[in-house]
Amino acid sequence: MAATKVLIGGGTGFIGHHLGELLLATGYSVMNVARMPGANNMSWSELELSGLPTRTCAVVNCAGQQFMDFTKSWTPGFKQNVQNSRVFTTKALTKAINESNDKPKVFVLLTGVGAYEPSDSYRYDETSPSTGGDFFSRLVGEWEKAAQVGPPVRLVIIRSGAVLGRWGGMIKNMFVPFYLGLGGRIGDGRQYLPWIHIDDLTRLIHFCIENDNVKGILNGRPSFFCVPETLLNIALNPERAMIMTKGQYVVPKRVLEYGFKYQYPEIDEACKEFAHLYPKKHPLK
Ligand SMILES: NC(=O)c1ccc[n+]([C@@H]2O[C@H](COP(=O)([O-])OP(=O)(O)OC[C@H]3O[C@@H](n4cnc5c(N)ncnc54)[C@H](OP(=O)(O)O)[C@@H]3O)[C@@H](O)[C@H]2O)c1
Repeated sequence: MAATKVLIGGGTGFIGHHLGELLLATGYSVMNVARMPGANNMSWSELELSGLPTRTCAVVNCAGQQFMDFTKSWTPGFKQNVQNSRVFTTKALTKAINESNDKPKVFVLLTGVGAYEPSDSYRYDETSPSTGGDFFSRLVGEWEKAAQVGPPVRLVIIRSGAVLGRWGGMIKNMFVPFYLGLGGRIGDGRQYLPWIHIDDLTRLIHFCIENDNVKGILNGRPSFFCVPETLLNIALNPERAMIMTKGQYVVPKRVLEYGFKYQYPEIDEACKEFAHLYPKKHPLK
């Protein structure tokens, strides 16, 4: 019988948990690599000591200290944590895959469109170089370099835009002020904000696991988004705020070529799905 276990780094988080639910619903079993004990969790030190669980068919890394956490100041120590939590977890999974005698077929790494320098005019697709010109671009460079798995394991890197869903990421942080009418334009409101609905992102990861021809770098989707830039710069520090105040137009050329169909290609439909103060279900409960 074919192996059906998927190991998810950061599987307890917003994206990792949603992904786990989709995988369970489609016949896979799931194990998380997490810092805290839990029913389906293994620790990072267990991974280091014992390697991949037997019969793992796919490994996905969704681990990383949230950098838009408004309660944390943008200090050098915090930035180091943002970086290490991504690069070290990716290296740990890569090492476990490379040392395994029973290799998974695919390693999916989730990074970000911060790989590309913000620009009002440039159109980025997956063939565009990552510039390394700012903190996020350098971070993505190090993060992706940490994923050095060799054949026969397929490496898929998804450079995601902001992941939109009620219970995590940007929407969770901004929902209440916006719902109460305290929101507003971000920057001049004309910058691009590449985004993807959480259901489409988890479906895309699932698609990458199931389709043996999918490999390499894949992008998210473009859109406009209209909170005053100055306020964000003061609240978050300009270097961190630029992820929202300076945008880039990112095209998912290869994703479309592979034939993946987005369930939420338009922002209106995506917003309708999560714009409820009390949504029907909380996926983390
Ligand atoms: N949300 C977005 O809009 C978005 C967009 C593009 C890319 N991404 C990337 O996708 C990944 C997941 O995002 P998310 O929104 O699901 O974040 P999240 O809800 O904060 O989950 C991230 C997970 O990473 C683990 N983690 C946090 N700090 C860690 C550390 N210092 N060391 C090791 N593990 C740590 C946590 O798991 P435990 O506490 O169980 O260890 C947590 O469950 C991140 O790498 C993020 O950069 C997210």
